[in-house]
Amino acid sequence: VTDEVVEAFARLMPQLSTSSKAPGKAAIAAMVAAEANTILLARSEDGTIVGTLTLVMFRIPTGLRTRIEDVVVDQAAGRKGFGTALTAEAISIARAAGAKTVDLSTRPSREAAGRLYEKMGFEIRSTRVYRYHVTGGAG
Ligand SMILES: CC(C)(COP(=O)(O)OP(=O)(O)OC[C@H]1O[C@@H](n2cnc3c(N)ncnc32)[C@H](O)[C@@H]1OP(=O)(O)O)[C@@H](O)C(=O)NCCC(=O)NCCS
Repeated sequence: VTDEVVEAFARLMPQLSTSSKAPGKAAIAAMVAAEANTILLARSEDGTIVGTLTLVMFRIPTGLRTRIEDVVVDQAAGRKGFGTALTAEAISIARAAGAKTVDLSTRPSREAAGRLYEKMGFEIRSTRVYRYHVTGGAG
């Protein structure tokens, strides 16, 4: 977890969520150390980190569950295939780990993300997505 990585998350996270604070060095170290996480970074040709994706894999009674989370590509490097490359790599890692499915969720307003995932073969699954607010604030 270098300063370059900390800088990259500080630049990328506001482009994903306005309500979450970008993780600092200690938080990124904890993310990386978490056994379930595989954190991917995409670099442009000049070496700049232009995107990230977190693949989460964990075992539950029904088997290995894998989820793609927090996908973001710098707007300045958008539409060049980085989002596709990150997602394809996550699928390949999940496959190698023995996963049969990869889940993700995305808000309908995220049109680019929806196109990207559907283009890659993700299918909408009918399920109820619930959230319980533990604290009063937005979560
Ligand atoms: C969604 C996101 C990750 C896509 O990254 P990207 O590197 O631009 O994606 P790619 O270049 O691989 O594009 C793949 C496909 O996604 C769709 N897409 C990407 N950007 C788009 C845009 N601005 N408008 C419409 N469709 C878009 C297109 O179908 C594109 O294929 P095409 O260029 O051949 O038409 C990026 O736009 C992003 O970070 N958005 C903000 C954060 C976000 O919504 N994250 C997803 C959370 S679930």
